[in-house]
Amino acid sequence: SWTMAAYREMAIERIREEVGDAKVICGLSGGVDSSVAAVLIHEAIGDQLTCIFVDHGLLRMNEAEEVVTLFRDHYNIPLVHVDAEDTFMGELDGKSDPEEKRKIIGRLFIETFEEEAKKVGGAEFLAQGTLYPDVIESVSFTGGPSVTIKSHHNVGGLPEKMNLKLVEPLRELFKDEVRELGRELGLPDSFVGRHPFPGPGLAIRCPGGINKEKADILRKADAIYLDEIRKSGQYDKIWQAFAVLLPVQTVGVMGDGRTYEFVCALRAVTSVDGMTADFYHYDMEFLGRTATRIINEVKGINRVVYDVTSKPPGTIEWE
Ligand code: XMP
Repeated sequence: SWTMAAYREMAIERIREEVGDAKVICGLSGGVDSSVAAVLIHEAIGDQLTCIFVDHGLLRMNEAEEVVTLFRDHYNIPLVHVDAEDTFMGELDGKSDPEEKRKIIGRLFIETFEEEAKKVGGAEFLAQGTLYPDVIESVSFTGGPSVTIKSHHNVGGLPEKMNLKLVEPLRELFKDEVRELGRELGLPDSFVGRHPFPGPGLAIRCPGGINKEKADILRKADAIYLDEIRKSGQYDKIWQAFAVLLPVQTVGVMGDGRTYEFVCALRAVTSVDGMTADFYHYDMEFLGRTATRIINEVKGINRVVYDVTSKPPGTIEWE
C-alpha cells in the first residue's frame, strides 16, 4: 500500500542518518522479523551491513538453505552462514529440562554470534528485528515463559558487552505491519507469511532429550505435515502448526512385523498474538491422510496423535 511505501522511505532515511558510514551487523534467525529488518537496512546502507546466520541445526526442513539463497543470491546481502549444529547438539546432549535447554541454546547463540561478529570486525551497530510488542513486553515484566523467549531473541547483553549501538527499525510496528513491509520490500509471500518459529527451534519440540537422529525424524514428520496443510489450503488460516516428537515408544504392526517406535503429536492453533490460542479443527480425513503419510514415510514413527488443547490451559509449544 502507499502508506507502507512511504514508511519504507522514511525508515530508510532514518537508518542512514542514524548509522552514517559505520558498519552494522545483524543476526538472522530465518524468521520474518530479522529478515525484514535486514533487507530494509541493506536497502539503506548497502554493504555496510553484514548478516550473521547462526544455524543451530534445529530449523525446519530446508530452512537454512532458503535463508542463504534468499539473502546471498537473491538480495546480494553479505551473509556469514555459521554451521554450528555440532556445537549445539554436543552441549544439548543428555539435557532434558526445558529451561536448561533454552539457556544452553541462548548462551551458545550469543557466543557463536559474538565470535563471528569479531571476525567481521569494526561494527559499531547491532541490528535487531525488535517489534513494538517486544518493546512493551520488555517494559511490563510479567514473568512466565515470555521472559525466557525474549532473552534468547534479543541477543540480551551482547550490545553492551561488545560496545555496540542498537538499530531497531521495526520498533514501531506490529507483526502484520512487518509482513506488509516485507512484501513492500519484495520478500516472497511464502516467506513473509510463514508461521512464527521459536528461537530454540526443534529442541523444544522434542520434549526431553534431543539429538541429531531425533531432530531428523521430527524434521521429516513436520515437513510432511506442513506439506499437507499447504496442499489443503489451510496454511494461512493457522497461526502455528508443527509436529512434536514424543519421548515415548509404542507398539505397532507393519507388514508381518511388530514395530516399537516413537509417537508423533501434531499441533495446530489459531491465535491473534500467541498469548491465547484455540486448537485448530481439522476434518478427520485430513488427519488420517497426514498420519498415514508420516507413518509410511518417516522411519522411527509408528503412531500419530492430535493435540486438542487450547491456550490456556496449555501452551502452544510442548515445552
Ligand atoms: P507458548 O508455548 O508459550 O508460545 O504458548 C507462545 C509463542 O511463543 C513462541 N515461543 C518461543 N519463541 N523462544 C522463542 O523465540 C522461545 O523459547 C519460545 N517459546 C515459545 C511459540 O512458538 C509461540 O509462538
